This record gives sequence, C-alpha cells and structure tokens, in this order.
Amino acid sequence: MPAKRSTTIPAARSATRTAASDTSRRAASTTRRPARSRTRAGSPDGATRTATSQPWLHQKGVVIQEFGTVRQFPIGLSYGARMYSCQRLNQTLADTQILYALYKKHHWLMRGATFYQLHLLLDKHADEQLELVDQIAERIQTLGGVAVGDPRHVAEITRIQRAPDGVEEVPAMLSRLLEAHEMILADAHDAAARTADMGDDGSNDLLVSDVIRTGEMEAWFLAEHLVDTPLVQA
Ligand SMILES: [Fe+2]
Repeated sequence: MPAKRSTTIPAARSATRTAASDTSRRAASTTRRPARSRTRAGSPDGATRTATSQPWLHQKGVVIQEFGTVRQFPIGLSYGARMYSCQRLNQTLADTQILYALYKKHHWLMRGATFYQLHLLLDKHADEQLELVDQIAERIQTLGGVAVGDPRHVAEITRIQRAPDGVEEVPAMLSRLLEAHEMILADAHDAAARTADMGDDGSNDLLVSDVIRTGEMEAWFLAEHLVDTPLVQA
C-alpha cells in the first residue's frame, strides 16, 4: 500500500479565509497565492487540509543554473570535455536557430517564376533545421549544460550576419542561405574533430551525422538553383 501523503500544511498557508474575503481578493488580483476554495478539518489524522484548483500565477524565482556552466552528470565524460562540447554546441545551436529563421523568412518572402518550388523547398529545409535545433539543444542538456534558447540571446551569440528587414532579390536570398550553411559547416567540422579528441563521441556523432550531413545536402539543393542554365533552348 502506498505511503500516505502528509496533509499537514504550514501554519502560514493554512489560515482559513471566509468566502467573502476570497472573492474580493480574487477580484483584486491573481498575482498572489491561490484562493483557498475550501478548508476541511477533522481528517483521520487530525490535520487541516485545503483543496483548490487555482494555479499559482506570476511566480518569480532565482536562476538555479547559469548559462555557460555544466552540472556533474554520470555519463563517463570529464567536466572539461562536457564544458568544451557545450560551448561549441551552443555556437552551433545559435547559428542553426538563425539559419532556421532565415529559411522561414525567405520561404515567406520568395518571389518569381520559381516561387512555388522554392517556397516549398525552403520550408522543408526549415523543418530539418528546426529538428536539428532540438537535437543540439538536448545534447547540451544531456551534457549537463544550458542550451541557448531566447532569440535575443541567440542574436548575441550567432556570427551569421543579419539579413535586411526588407526583401532581397531571389539569388541574393539563396546566396545568403548558402553562406550561413558554410559558416555552420566549417565550424561543425572543427567542433566534430575536437570533441572526438576529448572523448565526446556523442557530440561528434551529432555534429557529423546530423549537422554536417543535413547541412551539406541542403547546401547542394540551394547551390543548384544558382546555376545560370537555359530553361528551354541550349
Ligand atoms: Fe509556410
């Protein structure tokens, strides 16, 4: 039989309120503690128990792990190896999030005779990059680190140049995407070799099998659209 949960609550939390005061407090604000919908006494162990379904809203807390740190995880990798991999992967993560955003931007802003084909292709690549974002972020967490997530933090870390807010010509859009790919790929090759040297085979595998393989394939599909070849007559 499962152990019975204690129903005793701290005195400060068990203060009984009248229904009238609860109503007026709820009306005034939901930023404070949840209203107690009902207070019951006389349970078998003599404890006072309250029941409520009001969520605790607008909570604030302290940071419990700083960005740039790693926790001790028992995965057979040294602190130094995990710290190094997290630093490298956070760079790849930030750049990949920007590449994903660029793919969506250009998917939306696409123009011209090949609009439909490129509109679909760029969305496919965006989906693949988004999958990579999740894989890289969760690798960082697996290593005990903190993945960069807030887009404003991402913007501080990435080295991919910001695109104009307006609409560029189509070949310029594609060139911009290709250059972003090459920046990520060059960094990923170096990170893959160094993480392998430090014994982090999992990060090496992610970088080689996913980041590099996916990036190379997408770069190929983009580059073929920049070949100036006649459509009808040779
Ligand atoms: Fe879409």
